[in-house]
Amino acid sequence: MNNKNITILGIESSCDETAAAVYTTQGGLLSNELYSQIPSHALTGGVIPETASREHMEKIVVITQQALAKANKTLNDIDCFAVTCKPGLPGALMVGVAFSKAVAFAKNKKLIGIDHLEGHVFSACIENKVPFPFLALTVSGGHSALYLVRDFGCYEILGSTLDDAAGEAFDKIAKLMNLPYPGGPVIEKLAEAASFKDFFSYPRGNMKNLNFSFSGLKTAVLYHLIEQKAYDQETKTFLKNDDLDFKQQVASSLLVCIGDIFEEKIIRALKMHPYLKSVCFVGGVACNKYLRNRLQAACEKKGKQLFFPSNKLCTDNAGMIAFVGHYKAQQGLFDDLDLKVF
Ligand code: KG4
Ligand code: ZN
Repeated sequence: MNNKNITILGIESSCDETAAAVYTTQGGLLSNELYSQIPSHALTGGVIPETASREHMEKIVVITQQALAKANKTLNDIDCFAVTCKPGLPGALMVGVAFSKAVAFAKNKKLIGIDHLEGHVFSACIENKVPFPFLALTVSGGHSALYLVRDFGCYEILGSTLDDAAGEAFDKIAKLMNLPYPGGPVIEKLAEAASFKDFFSYPRGNMKNLNFSFSGLKTAVLYHLIEQKAYDQETKTFLKNDDLDFKQQVASSLLVCIGDIFEEKIIRALKMHPYLKSVCFVGGVACNKYLRNRLQAACEKKGKQLFFPSNKLCTDNAGMIAFVGHYKAQQGLFDDLDLKVF
């Protein structure tokens, strides 16, 4: 491997996206291809692990071919295969890891296992020159956490979710209201129509530390729906399908509540670590424009710049996996072919 120009193929299959990307030292991210299983999982209102594994197996070869073709590369050009090995659905992770091992072995190339969360943490650095050290708020369907990031590969967790992740709260509350999966984008649209006003003041939980807890919020919304005769718990049925105003008000109150929580935790973390130079907002929930705007304004008030990736790099993708694989390859941090999934 020529250390001056390394070519990485990134593979991601930890949940419901089958993804492949090519990243090179000189050209950056040359391709970032994805097959989303969302239409399949929308039918069941959430991810069914076995369906996810089966779809990964069907799509991984074709997505890899697409990523190589878009980058104008062949497998022979790849120096190293970087693959998500944790955390995620074990069966889904195994598809990407087994595939990467097989190709790395066949082509006699290097292999690196990547932590999916590390991918999200550094995802805003792919398109931006983010000043270190920075604070990273990673929020998606599976995780909500705050990281103190000193350098590439050098970071520590300041706070994480004690139960549900924020994206999971959006998805579960959307499901209660008979809205399609994934819930986040639908909630955002409904909330916008209600001008992002706080109608119902849902509980913010403990704002005095850097951890997150969204399961209480989900329960509070459930009880509110029951109290408003909008939800029948016995038959698990939403009863106000035709009441658009009500759905908009719930969505808006929920989004404002989550915005308050993120803003407060970021301000608290910046107060505790005033030397931090910038803030990154990453993960699927960082697609949310209302949250981006609010956090941008809050960070500006503290004299810090907020960075977020473009939408394609917020939701699960292989570009962020290839990017982390690239800096690990530069440091010679390779794995053996007995790489395990977690
Ligand atoms: O990062 P991601 O693709 O997958 C995980 O690693 O979980 O994030 C998916 C999550 C879902 O919960 C989805 O509802 C949420 O991101 N999401 C959003 C928006 N777009 C996606 N949440 C709020 N607003 C959005 N616009
Ligand atoms: Zn993710």
